[in-house]
Amino acid sequence: MVLSGLKIGCLGGGAMAEALLTGLLNSGIAAANLFVSDVRPERIEYLQRKLGINGVQGNRDLVQELDIVILAVKPQMVEEVLHETGAAFYPGQTLISIAAGIPTAFIEGFLSQPVAVIRVMPNTACLLGAGASALCAGKYAGAEDRERAMAVFSAVGKAVQVSENLMDAVTGLSGSGPAYMFVILEAMADAGVRVGLPRDIALLLSAQTMLGAARMVMETQEHPGRLKNMVTTPGGTAIAGVYALEEGGLRVTLMRAVEDATGRSREMSAGLKTRGEK
Ligand SMILES: NC(=O)c1ccc[n+]([C@@H]2O[C@H](COP(=O)([O-])OP(=O)(O)OC[C@H]3O[C@@H](n4cnc5c(N)ncnc54)[C@H](OP(=O)(O)O)[C@@H]3O)[C@@H](O)[C@H]2O)c1
Repeated sequence: MVLSGLKIGCLGGGAMAEALLTGLLNSGIAAANLFVSDVRPERIEYLQRKLGINGVQGNRDLVQELDIVILAVKPQMVEEVLHETGAAFYPGQTLISIAAGIPTAFIEGFLSQPVAVIRVMPNTACLLGAGASALCAGKYAGAEDRERAMAVFSAVGKAVQVSENLMDAVTGLSGSGPAYMFVILEAMADAGVRVGLPRDIALLLSAQTMLGAARMVMETQEHPGRLKNMVTTPGGTAIAGVYALEEGGLRVTLMRAVEDATGRSREMSAGLKTRGEK
């Protein structure tokens, strides 16, 4: 296995780090090879106690110890952390950043040596092993680094590779997508209540329906339009509902949501790109 024997750790031990370290443990990586550092000692202690992994007090000590460093602090902390640790990275390591909107060139600008950087846009469902992540490679990253990152993010869901100019699109689709799905689920539950169902039952039926439909698309590999056709009988209930969705402009609304979120992501990372490329 790509990751066996490698020392892997998270710089920043928050929610996403906990999800990734848990996924790696569940995929068979030994706790002895997993590490975490955090500004808050109580987070380190918590993760040590819960997962049995190694806690490290200093970020630089963590970096020097590892083959794969996962930068898992909030985007606004990245610059400070890279100022602190940039000189400690060395060739042969893979630096994986999950910080939303931070380009690989920006990160590379803080490293003293040519180190492989992989940028990943995961989503919140990584927290329960059902994430959707897309990754892209920096200028010093090779096939082995990409394989390492694919293995890490496959431990917490599905992972794909894209070129860096598509990362804003990923942010608009799967990065921000859970929010759209939550809104749709809430609306479906409201609709269930409107037609007489108790709210808890309406929400359960809605969520299980979304889960089931997503699994059908992924597991049958059928086009979603074909699956829709298969459940819409002539003159029946489903086509009456589909007609209302079309009349309400659901498709265009969803397309616009992804497009606007992609545009916002572009705006937010524009300033950083400029600094990273200086
Ligand atoms: N959560 C998601 O669904 C999601 C989705 C996509 C991408 N991401 C990305 O994942 C990254 C982590 O997100 P998260 O939700 O896991 O954040 P989080 O829970 O806030 O975790 C970050 C952790 O790093 C710690 N930290 C702050 N400054 C540090 C420093 N200088 N050195 C070491 N540790 C430090 C934080 O401590 P304090 O709390 O004391 O600051 C916190 O424990 C972010 O960059 C975010 O953009 C997250």
